[in-house]
Amino acid sequence: MSEPLILGIESSCDETGVGIVRGDQLLANEVASSVDLHARFGGVVPEIASRAHLSAFVPTLQRAVAAADVDLAEVDAIAVTAGPGLMGALLVGISAAKALAAHLGKPLYGVNHLVGHIAVDLLDHGPLPMPALALLVSGGHTSLLHVRDLARDIEELGSTIDDAAGEAYDKVARLLDLPYPGGPVIDRAAADGDPAAIRFPRGLTARHDLEKHRFDFSFSGLKTAVARWVETARLEGREVPVGDVCASFQEAVADVLVAKTLDAARQVGVGTILLGGGVAANSRLRGLLEERAAAEGVAVRRPRPGLCTDNGAMIAAVGLTAVRAGLPPSSLDFSALTGLPVNRIVV
Ligand code: KG4
Ligand code: ZN
Repeated sequence: MSEPLILGIESSCDETGVGIVRGDQLLANEVASSVDLHARFGGVVPEIASRAHLSAFVPTLQRAVAAADVDLAEVDAIAVTAGPGLMGALLVGISAAKALAAHLGKPLYGVNHLVGHIAVDLLDHGPLPMPALALLVSGGHTSLLHVRDLARDIEELGSTIDDAAGEAYDKVARLLDLPYPGGPVIDRAAADGDPAAIRFPRGLTARHDLEKHRFDFSFSGLKTAVARWVETARLEGREVPVGDVCASFQEAVADVLVAKTLDAARQVGVGTILLGGGVAANSRLRGLLEERAAAEGVAVRRPRPGLCTDNGAMIAAVGLTAVRAGLPPSSLDFSALTGLPVNRIVV
């Protein structure tokens, strides 16, 4: 049998994404972002995001179909983000996907956005080895996952108890008067700074924290420490060394993410770490994880930066995984699940 042709639709936050894959092969990945519309608010405004999805969906779908050079009638299955995400934003993609599925008479899979961030690497580097340990770092989530079977069995070992890693990037950028989203901007600014200039705290790494929170994260203390440091410098009339602050902040984030990920990989006894989510695009996180994992003989898999942030191809990758595993399609009456837990892979 030829490889299945899967259409993936993403609309959980501020990116309207349509991806088309044939088996592991990525045929199209079109993304329309409303990020510029949110920039002056310093974060995503849900109603603006929903309206932007509404106007972007059809043109994005048309571009994807043209880029993949396929006919919609050839599609074997449609996958759409069912959650987690913003209610109104999710509903736009889900409604569109249901209309397409009903009209074309194709099976529809409502899938988990977070799993998409992990699955997408199969389009870049082929089938993912299982079991594996995954570090999921996005704007809304920071989790360590034991992935026994990408289609059926994912266990969350720990997660953030306050801010997500990406959220910390965005908040620190804001207090440094840098634009939104903060991740890529801080990543670039850090290149000119000294990561050892300021010793910022590493959340939940003290011995007494490890007992209860070995695989959990906390970034709000770090954000506050950066805010205090910048405030003090400004009060004393010193110029804030933006490069040094960014590099030192980024070092603290990468250090704690990598330390806990390797600890979890040792604990579950896997030979592969999967890195996914918007923050997986971060240069220092990728570098440090690869360096320390290599020293322990553990392989690291991570998608190219362009596939780390939200897109439709990652949703198609989950759809593909579900089809290959022989999972039944979703019933057409599912709705948006804003708080969908990561262990519910297909709804
Ligand atoms: O996964 P994603 O695109 O959206 C969510 O599902 O949340 O992640 C967006 C987050 C934002 O917080 C953004 O600042 C962060 O990913 N991000 C980065 C980088 N690129 C994006 N953080 C650090 N370094 C980057 N290069
Ligand atoms: Zn995401």
